[in-house]
Amino acid sequence: MLTNKVFERFLLPNAKLTENMAFVLYSFVKFNRPQSILEVGAGYSTLFIAQAIKDVQDEIWYDRIHKKAILKNKTKFYGKKYNPSYDVIDSDTHILSQIRNVFNQLGCFDNLNVKLHHTMYESFSHSKKYDLLWVDAGLHNKLVNYIDGMLSCLTSNGMLLIHSTCTNKEGRNFLQFLNSDSRFQDYEIVNMVEPHKVTQNSFTLIKKKVEYTVYTENS
Ligand SMILES: C[S@@+](CC[C@H](N)C(=O)[O-])C[C@H]1O[C@@H](n2cnc3c(N)ncnc32)[C@H](O)[C@@H]1O
Repeated sequence: MLTNKVFERFLLPNAKLTENMAFVLYSFVKFNRPQSILEVGAGYSTLFIAQAIKDVQDEIWYDRIHKKAILKNKTKFYGKKYNPSYDVIDSDTHILSQIRNVFNQLGCFDNLNVKLHHTMYESFSHSKKYDLLWVDAGLHNKLVNYIDGMLSCLTSNGMLLIHSTCTNKEGRNFLQFLNSDSRFQDYEIVNMVEPHKVTQNSFTLIKKKVEYTVYTENS
């Protein structure tokens, strides 16, 4: 695994904004193995998501430590090759070319199924469904208008993560809207804050409530 020090050399300004969030996303990808990922707002986080995909691909063999449980029941993902699609949208050509440069210089992301889209989120076609949608493009005053569209492009197990929602007024308005509207009762909504920061310091996770399979008697 590459460390964030390597990434910081390439994308220093952004590295000071999502310096912890990028690791959260890295872990979500490893934890959840999303089959399709959409990122709105590229940068430091892009590298960590790509790195996580690569690390899962290299670590599939670890699945066998769960052998005892799978003697009876195999999970859907057990030992399966991991080659998710990863769409990245950004309206800024400069940031996209920076990302492309890092990928080229590190030379280790060649086989990843990553597509960098130079387009406005508003005009991106959402005909595809995503297991992980990560939104980090500002747009906080528009989130109320976009939430239905964002949720409609999630798979049934899909997760929506939105950056910087908790400690700014626009983000707060959005969260109040979610709490006050009964349509979102079918969703789990979790807010997390980095308590040592005053800006770019939080995220909201939204996912549909789902029933999971019981595989074992105890843990
Ligand atoms: C806060 S930065 C993203 C930071 C990145 N996630 C990281 O970890 O470094 C926000 C990005 O959103 C892009 N952006 C802003 N509005 C957008 C829009 N409507 N559609 C697409 N991209 C947009 C900007 O060009 C900018 O690169």
